[in-house]
Amino acid sequence: MKKTRTLTGITTTGTPHLGNYVGAIRPAIQAVNDGSESFYFLADYHGIIKCHDPARIHRSTLEIAATWLACGLDPDKAHFYRQSDIPEIMELTWILNCLCTKGLMNRAHAYKGAVAENEAKGQADIDHGITMGLFSYPVLMSADILMFNANKVPVGKDQIQHLEMARDVAQKFNHTFKPLFALPEAVVSEETELLQGLDGRKMSKSYNNTIPLFEPEKKLRKLIMKIQTNSQEPSEPKDTQNSTLYHLYKAFATPAAVADIERRYAEGIAWGEMKQLLFETINAEIAPMRDRYNNLMANPAHIEAILQAGAQRLRPMSQALLNDVRQAVGIYALS
Ligand code: TRP
Repeated sequence: MKKTRTLTGITTTGTPHLGNYVGAIRPAIQAVNDGSESFYFLADYHGIIKCHDPARIHRSTLEIAATWLACGLDPDKAHFYRQSDIPEIMELTWILNCLCTKGLMNRAHAYKGAVAENEAKGQADIDHGITMGLFSYPVLMSADILMFNANKVPVGKDQIQHLEMARDVAQKFNHTFKPLFALPEAVVSEETELLQGLDGRKMSKSYNNTIPLFEPEKKLRKLIMKIQTNSQEPSEPKDTQNSTLYHLYKAFATPAAVADIERRYAEGIAWGEMKQLLFETINAEIAPMRDRYNNLMANPAHIEAILQAGAQRLRPMSQALLNDVRQAVGIYALS
């Protein structure tokens, strides 16, 4: 039987934060080490959909690649590559575009969100400023996934719909031409989804409440000291469930340490003490990776070589699939 294939992409627009680490990077690397066949890639063509700042795209690509490697991704055990280094993905995107109905794309959350924003602003044209890239972004994502016949796709909740669209377009191709594509499934992990940020809302770049993963130690400490708490005094018994500090602690501490902290909350641990403990716990896990990260960031050529090797190893696969796809739709040599 074929091994299950896990695939996920990371859009190259931001700097990785603790939420990305706990929710995506750490479990993904764990999956590789547990022996799953994994495909992790830098979705730079997704990056340029909304971000038209070339320096940021370029920098983010480097930062994200360095982060995954620093966190322990072994590029010999997983497929680690940059989307734009596999040009077959782009060709497949076009072919899928020719199968995917506009009506389906009209229902995509990202597009609907942009339309709703225009409506709220009283724009006469509800499509004002919406690019074809944004509109058809689920098709590019489908190509990413179908190109390598991925079965499982770990994503955030907001991406479930895109997986349904990928299945839809795969089925349409399989039915119209030839059954070449596996039907992928979204894998959403509830607990890791919800890492809280500085203000207690979900940690997210759009809320501006993130803790970047590889801030220098002093800065990390400072940010943790800024996490919102209530005004309860030291020695007052405290509730764990409404405490961002507790939730963050739980993402990094052992079950025994968490049980201990629950007892100390009941006894009324002071917020300042809890913050210090949280800082020490997070930093203990992050510090060795931070050193590796800083070394990697100082050596972009090394990262580039790893990405090139990743693409080179995969392209025979993507070329073979694209060949079959082209053949199936009638695009092949005349004799
Ligand atoms: N769109 C995804 C996101 O914003 C990133 C992504 C691009 C992706 N291609 C993918 C995720 C393929 C899973 C599979 O998070």
